[in-house]
Amino acid sequence: MITTMRKDLGTPPPAVTSAVTSAVPVRLEIDGVSVTVPAGTSVMRAARAADINVAKLCATDSLASFGSCRLCVVEIAGRKGLPASCTTLVEEGMVVRTQTERVARVRRNVMELYISDHPLDCLTCAANGDCELQDMAGAVGLREVRYGLDGANHLVMAKDESNPYFTFDPSKCIVCSRCVRACEEIQGTFALSITDRGFGAKVSAGMNESFMASECVSCGACVQACPTATLTEKTVIAAGQPDRTVKTTCAYCGVGCSFNAELKGNEVVRMVPAMEGGANEGHSCVKGRFAWGYASHRDRVLKPMVRERITDDWREVSWDEVIAYTASRFLDIQKRHGVGAIGGISSSRCTNEEVYVVQKMVRAAFHNNNIDTCARVCHSPTGYGLKQTFGTSAGTQDFKSVAHADVIVVIGANPTDAHPVFASRMKRRLRQGAKLIVIDPRRIDLVRSPHIEATHHLSLRPGTNVAVINALAHVIVTEGLVREDFVTERCDALSFAQWREFIARPEQSPEATEAHSGVPAGELRAAARLYATAQNAAIYYGLGVTEHSQGSTMVMGIANLAMVAGQLGREGTGVNPLRGQNNVQGACDMGSFPHELPGYRHISDTATRHTFEAAWEVTLDAEPGLRIPNMLASANAGQFHGIFVHGEDLAHSDPDTTHVIAALRAMELVVVQDLFLNETAKFAHVFLPGTAFLEKDGTFTNAERRINRVRPAMPSRTGLSEWEIVCKLSTAMGYPMSYVNAAEIMDEIASLTPTFAGVSFAHLDRVGSVQWPCTAVKPLGTRIMHEDAFVRGKGRFLITEYVPTDEKSTRRFPLLLTTGRVLSQYNVGTATRRTANVVWHEEDTLEIHPSDAELRGIVNGDGVRMMSRKGAITLHACVTDRVPAGVVYTTFHYPDAAANVITTEFSDWATNCPEYKVTAVEVRPVD
Ligand code: SF4
Ligand code: SF4
Ligand code: SF4
Ligand code: FES
Repeated sequence: MITTMRKDLGTPPPAVTSAVTSAVPVRLEIDGVSVTVPAGTSVMRAARAADINVAKLCATDSLASFGSCRLCVVEIAGRKGLPASCTTLVEEGMVVRTQTERVARVRRNVMELYISDHPLDCLTCAANGDCELQDMAGAVGLREVRYGLDGANHLVMAKDESNPYFTFDPSKCIVCSRCVRACEEIQGTFALSITDRGFGAKVSAGMNESFMASECVSCGACVQACPTATLTEKTVIAAGQPDRTVKTTCAYCGVGCSFNAELKGNEVVRMVPAMEGGANEGHSCVKGRFAWGYASHRDRVLKPMVRERITDDWREVSWDEVIAYTASRFLDIQKRHGVGAIGGISSSRCTNEEVYVVQKMVRAAFHNNNIDTCARVCHSPTGYGLKQTFGTSAGTQDFKSVAHADVIVVIGANPTDAHPVFASRMKRRLRQGAKLIVIDPRRIDLVRSPHIEATHHLSLRPGTNVAVINALAHVIVTEGLVREDFVTERCDALSFAQWREFIARPEQSPEATEAHSGVPAGELRAAARLYATAQNAAIYYGLGVTEHSQGSTMVMGIANLAMVAGQLGREGTGVNPLRGQNNVQGACDMGSFPHELPGYRHISDTATRHTFEAAWEVTLDAEPGLRIPNMLASANAGQFHGIFVHGEDLAHSDPDTTHVIAALRAMELVVVQDLFLNETAKFAHVFLPGTAFLEKDGTFTNAERRINRVRPAMPSRTGLSEWEIVCKLSTAMGYPMSYVNAAEIMDEIASLTPTFAGVSFAHLDRVGSVQWPCTAVKPLGTRIMHEDAFVRGKGRFLITEYVPTDEKSTRRFPLLLTTGRVLSQYNVGTATRRTANVVWHEEDTLEIHPSDAELRGIVNGDGVRMMSRKGAITLHACVTDRVPAGVVYTTFHYPDAAANVITTEFSDWATNCPEYKVTAVEVRPVD
């Protein structure tokens, strides 16, 4: 068990709150102890660093000091009165006394006043034993409350139970404002305020509303900051205080937040974001913080099941039987149809270790390279485009780097919904004055949110990304804004010369491209100048870049733009894909693509293949295998007959659902490994129950290449780890595979993958997390890539010709549909729909512009039928000008709405990533 008792240093380090340089050491004396700390440190933090605890209530080291409670007063030689140690900065030679009689008297008085207006129900309070007010009453030696409890007080104030996950009990509130500041400083939502003054002062959500009615996004930052039981998780109220802690990683999105799973026995009581988490530094979103109940949901399947035909009922069987059955069926298919007639899909939701064994099983036991992963349908163009230009299939920066950006460009991403904890970091930097450029058809929240306004919102037509990125580069090249020194020193001269000639052509100009993209030329020129002339400018992008027929072209266009402006290789710059799934980076790193072994090394490379052949003691096929779309197409053509689907819901998440379902129906054997009977399982013959993240032992790699440990908080409810199941299946198929534990799998990965060479569970347990490359030379990993040189040597410019997609709006289908996610739900919703998060998003709706709605006689809330040339679905309309005229938008969290029934077969030219973001549709009202 890992304990997480953390010393709260009272105030943040100076770099966070003070302009004073923290490099200068300051020496002072506190209670006779000589202490040296950086300039700008508070007296409280200096004392706590020296293990001298100063009483406090309104201070905590995740928030700027506020100085309201007066509990932390100290005596300072030569100063009048009793300054608050949380707001007083250290000075050279200062002599501080924290424990004098005078100080003690003041602190007791302060506590007496607090306690005189506080319910004395400690023994039955949910926070008993975990309450700073209770601790401080003891610390200051409070023995009596002279003022009694019968004067004016707040004890009868009504609770707000509206939020499904936490309670607000104002009778316990000490108005320390930590919650208000957490919502502003950490989360950036500004949902809370202190209303009224003096004795009447109280915490209010929104405009004196309930938490649910306010702008609150249920991130939990206020709950974590609250020093009393005023804001408390409902699970803690129900279950009582936890008795043990296991540090692990959220299994939802690519931010990869670290959490302390706090448990009572084997039941999770709450998930608390870890301050030392490299990606999140103590913050969380509603999914990781609260929506973990799916892990023990009654719908989970815990026993293996088989059936002959998909119309039969499932039959529960033993692990031995299901393994023997599955292996014999796969082998039989291969005997009749050849070794290439089966394949596998690995899961970006699973650990690196699980993914590694799945791809190894396919290559070594299936004897082919028919392995692919769900990155195919999201960020495969990122892998391709960045490898071609920079030499590495991954983002360049860590999340912290955004704190140094002066200009932030967000392209085709909606971080406040899809990567919320990173969005909070980004918003903090924007509130500090960084400029924002948003390139997105839709007015995402970032465009205008509390204290943030985008300088430029380039609302382009779906499908015209490449025209816009080329036009931005055109301005830089033709207006003399090229960072010639960077380009000359760091980039390939020939490729630059060719690209420069291409990009300077008049057809790439903002004026010429305005007609396709709809982006006003003047606005685009201004945005290009802002990006190019910034000291540090960083690009963050999402699936709005990759899920297009020119997804890879666009990624290369972004790389070109960053190189020509010299915005790479240092803090505050870079090209940063915001990866969707928790381990999509890892799934790609682990060799889940049909053409690449772990570490992105081509299967046709003889030396690489020999390395793996020697280690795995098997002969590998040198030919790349089938991608997901090829497997499905081959199945429909009667040439592919069996598939192992590891934690992916193909029938819901892949485009052109009708075609996917036809392929699944056509196969003789569909094996699904998952937590729940998902949409794909409707077409499965074998169901292998998977393990929830709280039961897994392994690692996830997040969007910033950070390898985080995932530790089992509870035993596997199915009796086996997923990697054990895969090993058993591989063994039964004739290729013996076994490991003592997941750590041993990582050791094998490290021995065969140069960028992981320095990674082991023991190392991660020691240092927390590392960003690959992690090697003997760089044991602590690599925060920022391409600092002195690109991984491929010289950065390569590539010609990015804009080719309009074949999916065009027509008279029959005049609108363009684009898709995305909401904060409270996650992808196909298998997990989040089984939590209370449904209160925020009960169904997928269709956003439509008022003018398009009026034209069709649609009013807000109407049922509408949306048709494309692929199919039709029905959902409710949300009339809003967030989307421009001509564009409609929906999410894809519910199978009922089945957005992918209408998405098309078009895909990225290089990687087959589906063109989810452009579908020509028509919308009509229905009864
Ligand atoms: S849960 Fe988050 S968003 Fe809601 S009030 Fe608290 S800090 Fe603000
Ligand atoms: S709710 Fe908690 S954090 Fe907020 S003011 Fe009251 S006691 Fe302080
Ligand atoms: S931001 Fe992503 S990783 Fe972090 S808590 Fe939310 S869903 Fe989990
Ligand atoms: S902790 Fe310093 S004034 Fe409250």
